[in-house]
Amino acid sequence: MVPVLGRAADAAERQLFAAARSAAGHAYAPYSGFAVGAVVVGPSGRGHHGVNVENASYPAGLCAERAALAALIAAGERELRCVAVAAGDGGDCLPCGLCLQALAEFGDPVVVAQTGGALRAVRLRELLTAPFACGDGAAGR
Ligand code: THU
Repeated sequence: MVPVLGRAADAAERQLFAAARSAAGHAYAPYSGFAVGAVVVGPSGRGHHGVNVENASYPAGLCAERAALAALIAAGERELRCVAVAAGDGGDCLPCGLCLQALAEFGDPVVVAQTGGALRAVRLRELLTAPFACGDGAAGR
């Protein structure tokens, strides 16, 4: 059974989710056939987009959330406020554990995703309560 997470997404969050869904149209997912799009937002308020990028050597593949995170960092931002993730097929898609750990490095953003068929907004630390950190964490920020 799918747990009930967070709260219903608001209008701005729904819009961000729609942008993530539309980004999924550019995903490169020939092996799984599962396209994913993500949009992350930091202090600037700008949306940074990412998609999953698979590879013939399967472990070399990249998730959409980490692709979007790399775009945010490349743009000079260092803090996550919101992360929207969407499956291209309109189905449920929460960030995987590896992506949650990667995102947790840069804050406790609101994660907007579809779960149990509903669009929900949930804090990252509700999904990953105790991320790994070296010492007191966030060493490089
Ligand atoms: N995927 C993501 O892009 N984000 C996630 O959080 C979960 C999984 C991708 C990885 C792979 O390309 C495809 O979805 C199927 O697992």
